[in-house]
Order: sequence, then C-alpha cells, then structure tokens
Amino acid sequence: MSQYDVIVIGAGPGGYVAAIRAAQLGFKTACIDAGVNKAGDAPALGGTCLNVGCIPSKALLQSSEHFHAVQHDFAEHGITVGDIKFDAAKMIERKDGIVNKLTGGVKFLFQKNKIDSLFGLGSFKGKNGDLYQIEVDNKGEKTVVEAKHVIVATGSVPRPLPQIAIDNVNVLDNEGALNLTEVPAKLGVIGSGVIGLEMGSVWKRVGSEVTILEAAPTFLAAADQQIAKEAFKFFTKEQGLEIELGVKIGEIKAGQGVTVQYETAKGEAKTETFDKLIVAIGRIPNTNGLNVEAVGLEKDERGFIKVDGDCKTNLPNVWAIGDVVRGPMLAHKASDEGVAVAERIAGQKPHIDFNNVPFVIYTDPEIAWVGKTEEQLKAEGVEYKKGTSGFGANGRALAMGKAKGTIKVLACVKTDRILGVHMIGPVVSELVSEGVTSLEFSASSEDIARIIHAHPTLSEVLHEAALAADKRALHG
Ligand code: FAD
Ligand code: NAI
Repeated sequence: MSQYDVIVIGAGPGGYVAAIRAAQLGFKTACIDAGVNKAGDAPALGGTCLNVGCIPSKALLQSSEHFHAVQHDFAEHGITVGDIKFDAAKMIERKDGIVNKLTGGVKFLFQKNKIDSLFGLGSFKGKNGDLYQIEVDNKGEKTVVEAKHVIVATGSVPRPLPQIAIDNVNVLDNEGALNLTEVPAKLGVIGSGVIGLEMGSVWKRVGSEVTILEAAPTFLAAADQQIAKEAFKFFTKEQGLEIELGVKIGEIKAGQGVTVQYETAKGEAKTETFDKLIVAIGRIPNTNGLNVEAVGLEKDERGFIKVDGDCKTNLPNVWAIGDVVRGPMLAHKASDEGVAVAERIAGQKPHIDFNNVPFVIYTDPEIAWVGKTEEQLKAEGVEYKKGTSGFGANGRALAMGKAKGTIKVLACVKTDRILGVHMIGPVVSELVSEGVTSLEFSASSEDIARIIHAHPTLSEVLHEAALAADKRALHG
C-alpha cells in the first residue's frame, strides 16, 4: 500500500497548488482527482476553475468583446469592416483549446514536482494508527493509499433550483452556458450574480436577447452600492441586458423552449419563454462521495467542512481549503489557502488576511474591489472619508475608447489608512492589485497620492481618487 506524507483530494486551484507547495517543501505527496475532460474520455486536472469556470468564461468574454468591438467601436477609429460573421462553435473550440493547454499544464507541474497524480473518486476509509486511509475508486477499480496529512479540496457544485433539473441542453448550469455552439435568440438567466452577469454579457454581445431574473431586491448586494448602481445603469441602459430584481420564480417547464413563470417585485404575474435558460443561483460545497462519516469529519449546517481560520478541521492532520470551506468561492482564495496549509504542515506560520481578498466581475466595464464597502463601514460605525475619480477624463482610457467608470478610495478619518478600494472601469481586474497591496501594507491614502503613477495609464484614476480622499485632486 502506498504511503504519503500528504494526500490532497481534489486538483482544482486549491488542491493542485497545495500539492505543489507540499512537494516543494519536501513532502511525499499525492493528489487524487476525479475530474474528466469535456469529452469524458480522459482525466482533466484543474477543477472547476480551469475546466468549467474562471478560464473558459474569460475566453468567451474576450471573444464576445472582440465581436462587439468590431461592430460598434471600430468605426470611430476609421476602420471599416465588411461582412461580419460570428461562429459560436469556433469560439467554443478556441476556449476548449485554452482549457486543454492549462489542464495539461497542471499534469506537467505534477510530474515536474514528483507528485503522484491518482485518478478516481477519493473517499475516507478509516485509520491505520496515525495514518488516514483513502480509497481511490477509478470506475470500480479500487486502491487504498495512506497519509499522515490529508487536505480536502473537493470544491463546489452549482446550487440546484428545486423547480427544474439541469439537462445542459435547454436548462444550463455553468458547463452548459460555456458550451453553446449556437447563439440562442432568447436567453433567460436566473440569478444576477457573477455567473449570470458574465455569461449574460457573453451571449448578449453575440446577439442573444438576454433577460436576467434575480430574487434579491438589491443588485450586487455584496459590492459597494455606489459602484453597483453605476454598473446596473451600464448593463441595463447602455448594453440592453434586461435585469429584473426582486422576482419570485414560480413554475418552470422545459420542452422546445423553456417557460418560466414568475412574480415581479410589484406582484405582477409574468410568463416568459426562452430558447435556453441558465440557472446561476450560487454554488454549494461538494462533499459527494467523500465518506466523511468514516472518520467523523464534521460539516457545518450548510454542508461546508468545518474549519478554523487556519483551515484545520475537527480531526488532527486533516485540513480543508477552497470552495468546500467558509469564505468567498474564488480561485485565488483557494490557492492561497492551499499554500498556507502546506506551509503549516511544514511548521511554518503563514497568515492570510481574508479582508484583503480581491473580488472581480469580468463584465465590460469590469468591477473590482478589495476591503470594506461604504455600507459595511457605516454598519460598523467606522468614521471614513472617501475620494472618487472617474475614467471620463483619463487620457489612456479615452485613447482606448473605454473612458467609463469610477474608482473610489475609502480611508479612515483618524489615521488615513485605506479601508477599501472600489472600481468599475476598463481593466480594473488588474488595477485592483494596487488596492490589495495598499491594504496588505496598511498604506494611507496619502501614500498612494505620493506614489508616482506612470502617465498616461489607467492607474492615474486610482492616484486621483487617493488625492481626492484628501480633497486635493488635481484633475477633478
Ligand atoms: P474546484 O475547482 O471545484 O476543484 C475541486 C476538484 O475536486 C475537482 O476537480 C473535482 O473533480 C475534484 N473532486 C471533488 N470531489 C472529489 C473526490 N471525492 N475525489 C476526487 N476528486 C474530487 N473564481 C475566481 O477567482 N475568478 C473567476 O474569474 C472565476 N470564474 C468562475 C466562473 C464560473 C463559471 C464558475 C463556475 C466559477 C468561477 N470561479 C472564479 C470560482 C472558482 O472556479 C472556484 O472558486 C475554484 O475553482 C475553487 O477551487 P477549489 O480547488 O476549491 O475547487
Ligand atoms: P452568486 O452567488 O454570485 O449569485 C447568485 C445570485 O442568484 C444571487 O444574486 C442570488 O440572490 C440569486 N438567487 C439565488 N436564488 C435565487 C432564486 N431562486 N431565484 C432568483 N435568483 C436567485 O452565484 P453564481 O453567479 O452562481 O456564481 C457562483 C460563484 O462562483 C460565485 O459566488 C463566485 O464565488 C464564483 N464565480 C466567480 C467569478 C469571478 O470571480 N469573476 C465568476 C463566476 C463565478
């Protein structure tokens, strides 16, 4: 029977990164994963993120942005293009190529770091002294491996809607939404969260009429509401996404199309028929088949594996990271927890500040933030000052033809320490890193105001927002 220092269950961005760091630290490491490729005929490492999440969605967002730009933005640059056609199947093929390249990259990294990659469903079997026994089930062929430390990184799965089952033909989850080879004339989306907005944007840009039905009365409730309101205006007024807030979804029937009955916020009964329906109402932790009962691994009332701030479970030497534990379901949060756990196993003392996890929504304009929102600061009774600056007069944004959006810096009135940075605008997914660095280093808004920002760059908007927090904006 093979014995390891560390066994990781799950090879998503949490698990595969944890395995690499454990191997780097000198541990004999194995990583078990049950993921298969799109064709279903070969293992595919990388989890949700690489196969059916972050990466494929960004590939489609990019393709759809190009299609939109060639139709709507090129003319003002003096570029005339003839007969423009869109081939959805080709877009999906390109996306699949990127997925294959990256999932193959994880396989290569495992080989390079001498990590044993075991294919199959991993489950707890019991204990042999200090060692945990894990069964690996590869289509009925079962083997048992043992390790002193186990890191559970089994991720999450889409939250089902009780009214209708996902068939990924007409009623789609993220997998189906990323694999449409024809543009649906009418697309319905349930949930105006991150997936709803990103996938809705993709299919809207390539020609679908998109209606998003959202249960919550507030749009993007977790985001700073000034930014959320600006985003809502862009998406509905400028881009033509229909977003209906505060709805109650009733009966859903799938046949030729998908018919959704719902009640509006004003209590009006409505029925809409869509060619395809995407259900994106959040994700739930995945502990399917893990057999936590065999060793008494505890879950909380929502099904997440219970962990403390250091990702320790109720069992000695069993750790859990990523989407299967509390906290935001984000790839970078999963990876950072993976690194930290491997280092804790090695006796190091890493620290993750969960207040400094950046959030990004890859719409156009993009939305990004780190730290506290104004709403949170008010609720906590923190006295804060704010500085805002727009992209409208930023030279680089104008040159790019993307001069829309705002950056807001929130800082403590007493100490000037930056408490939150909120952005909507071009490529703010990249700009938010300066906000993260500021929070990590406890920077003041004056620090950012005094740092030289290259000209002409989009980062000058953040510079101006920091100056504005001290009421000395130069261009505002
Ligand atoms: P996963 O990536 O879910 O990996 C878990 C792995 O464990 C899978 O490979 C699964 O097959 C395997 N597994 C599960 N159970 C077992 C078992 N018993 N035995 C063996 N293997 C098992 N996050 C971002 O930060 N940025 C984004 O832009 C972004 N975009 C997204 C877009 C979409 C459409 C979706 C759905 C998600 C997106 N996310 C994004 C979220 C991100 O994908 C997740 O937060 C991240 O993948 C979580 O990583 P993980 O390692 O915890 O789990
Ligand atoms: P989400 O939590 O972002 O949004 C779900 C939305 O559905 C919420 O607005 C919620 O109010 C709504 N909702 C819930 N039940 C409903 C119902 N019965 N009827 C109508 N609306 C309902 O979840 P989403 O979009 O499914 O994405 C899952 C997770 O994946 C995200 O939370 C995020 O962690 C991750 N993700 C991250 C991305 C990024 O970082 N750019 C991109 C895509 C996903």
